[in-house]
Formats: sequence, structure tokens, C-alpha cells
Amino acid sequence: MNHFTYQNQELCCEEVPVAKIAAEVGTPFYLYSHATLAQHFRAFDTAFAKIPHLSCFAVKSCSNLAILRLFAQLGGGADIVSGGELFRALSAGVPPERIVYSGVGKTSEELAYALQANILQFNVESEQELEALQEVAAAAGVQARVSFRVNPDVDPQTHAYISTGLAKNKFGIPIDQAVAVYLRARSLANIQIQGVSCHIGSQLTLVSPFIESLQKLKGFIGRLQAEGITISHLDLGGGLGIQYRDEEPPHPEEYARAIQAELAGIDCTLILEPGRVIVGNAGALITRVHYTKQGPTKKFIIVDAGMNDLARPSLYGAYHAIRPVHESGRGQELADVVGPICETGDFLSRDQEVPVSVPGELLAVMSAGAYGFSMSSNYNSRPRVAEVLVARAGYHVIRRRESYDDLIRGEEIPAFLRG
Ligand code: LLP
Repeated sequence: MNHFTYQNQELCCEEVPVAKIAAEVGTPFYLYSHATLAQHFRAFDTAFAKIPHLSCFAVKSCSNLAILRLFAQLGGGADIVSGGELFRALSAGVPPERIVYSGVGKTSEELAYALQANILQFNVESEQELEALQEVAAAAGVQARVSFRVNPDVDPQTHAYISTGLAKNKFGIPIDQAVAVYLRARSLANIQIQGVSCHIGSQLTLVSPFIESLQKLKGFIGRLQAEGITISHLDLGGGLGIQYRDEEPPHPEEYARAIQAELAGIDCTLILEPGRVIVGNAGALITRVHYTKQGPTKKFIIVDAGMNDLARPSLYGAYHAIRPVHESGRGQELADVVGPICETGDFLSRDQEVPVSVPGELLAVMSAGAYGFSMSSNYNSRPRVAEVLVARAGYHVIRRRESYDDLIRGEEIPAFLRG
């Protein structure tokens, strides 16, 4: 369910025609619907209403301050993976007691920053990270609340690049080795054991891998109890998928029901780290057609957005539906929608039915709210695009388009090269 609909052949986001925003803000830009964001957050969060829980939005999926603020207002927290994301979450007003920190490579500086902010929990991913955290916490004279991310070796049946819970992945502590790490943690003066966490992958379209890993976690929690270690928080990570084309991922309610049934008897606050399921279909990338070109074997539609703006098609071969902003009635054709970047991998869609387009027309690259802007770059020295949030009949630029000056900010020509 989202709020991108056609009214009189014009694509609208809530009550605002997309073409109006394009005329005023320029293209390309990311466009988000406030109503869809709020609805998706609430649908996810209320699915767990019966049990103590905290929905920590995965900041990496869409990290704009306005969007983080919205989820914080709705009672959400933040799942962060860097000092930069902590800075964003705090700047957006996410209460530190609702922030969890994941990631395999946290630096001492980042650990100190998060300790000073007094976040809810560190999801520690290795024994060396535990020792580093102990050292930093001791120096600061504070206690670090810790959960260990265990790797349950479960196949999430998703794209290999976004599978994280297999034994061969770099994430977490192998579940068979993790009890020893908890025992070590118990002996450390500045570490307070709080929970167990896991995150097995992203864009999961089945409930079964989540349940399989939860079953393994339950067995693991039993082994901890046998050692006299009890936990108060269980973090199941994110990963619930969305429909890009014809996937049929479980609805959050079905996902929540299955998890709650499996949790029976476990007395913990549940932490969830949803990203894509909340923002994915709440955002689109709006781009303008520059030129069209008929090659010997295929047709190209050359637009003003490229792989630097939306990396998912090039990086994962991901499918994003391309829809017309104005329904011209010219129908669809097989073509590649490509950007201006000097790489063959620069496409937003490939061998896909797309609207027959002419120069100057606007296209909407759908389902781009998650891992869209947040993965964008300045490659080819392209300023990063604007982000726009629509709320009912109004729109707000929540990130201005970068300028050429932004591109060179912080760069310096050393003295020996001057003159
Ligand atoms: N928690 C942790 C520890 C994670 O690593 C991730 C995502 C999430 C939560 C949120 O997962 P979600 O609910 O969004 O599936 N760039 C890729 C996705 C990478 C996901 C990385 N980790 C893409 O564009 O598909």
C-alpha cells in the first residue's frame, strides 16, 4: 500500500502532482510520501503491540533527518552501524535509550562516542570488539550494555550480497562459539550483558528463515541460562522483504504472528531493526528523459539519474518498476533506462518493459525509498540529488540538491602544486 497514484493521467504523491515538484525542484530527486512512511511504520510496529518491543529503524536504509524524526515521533528507535549514523540519529532527536549499534568494525572512537551518548545496546560481533569495548568503557568509567550478534548459519534465500546469517558470512559470532564469549563478557568489569541479537539478511520473502534462526536462538538462550546467564533483550534484526515486482513477502502481521508464536515462554523485550519494509515502497526516484537512442540490438532511454543516484540495479541486478509521470497513452516497450555515467553498468532498468518515452518526459523509478539515496555517491562528480517529502497537499525539500561547491568541499591543492 502506498500513496503514489494516478489522477487524470498524472502521477501524484498523496495530493501533489509529481510534475509540479519536478518543475519547481528540478530533476532528479527522491520523493517520499509522509503518509506511506507513517502507515508502514505503524503497521510494522503495531503488529508487535501485544509484547514488549522496540522497532529500531535501520538508519542505513534511508538516513534523512526528517524521516528519522518521523519514526522517532511514532515511538521508534534507530539501528545504527557507524558514528555518522549515531550523529544522524541524535541530530534527528532519536532518544539514545532507543538506539542499538550493530556492525563488525566499530572503531574505538565510535565505541566511545556511543558510550558517551548512552545508547541502549551495542550488538557486539567479535571477541576482539568485546575487549575493545571493555577498554573504552573502563577508560570512560561507565558500563556498556551489550548483546552479542550470533551467526545462526541459516539460509535467508535472498541475494548473496545481502545474506548475512550464513556461516561463510563475516557477520556475528558463530553460534557454537558464542557461549564462551558470554562467559568472557561476564568476567569483564565494564560490560553488562543485556541480550542476544541476530540479523540473517535483507529482502527476505519467506517467514521460515526467520523462524529457523529464532529456534536456534532459543536453544542458545537455554545454553546461556544453564551457565546462569539471563538476558532481557532479544534483537531479531531486520530483513523483511517488499514487493518490487511479483515477490509475495509476508505481511508484517504474518511475520509478527509467527515470531510471537515461536517466542512463547521467552521473557524478553523484543528489538526489531526494520528498514526496507518501512521505506522501500514509500519512495521513488524521479528522473527526466534526456534522449532516446535506437542501437542495433536494443533501445536506450537516457535519463538524468544514474547508478550514482540509485546503485541497486547495477550492484544487485535489482528490478525497479519504471512508471510514467504523465500517462501519455503511448504504451510500453522493451528498452534499457540508462544514466549519463560512463559505465555500461549504469542502468536503472535493463531489458524491461518501460513507458514509451520522448525527451523531456518524466519517469518514476519506483520502490526506491530503501537503499536509494543512502547509497548514492558523487561518482562522475555528479552532485547528489534533492530529497523531497510530500505530506498531503504540500511538499518539503528535506535535502537540497548539492552544488558544484559541495563537490569540492574539503579538498585542497597542496602548496607544492600551487603557483
Ligand atoms: N539490521 C542489520 C544489522 C542490518 O545489517 C540490516 C541491513 C538491517 C537491520 C535492515 O535490513 P532491512 O530490514 O532493510 O532488510 N543495500 C542492500 C541491502 C543491504 C542490507 C544491509 N543490512 C539493498 O539495496 O538491497
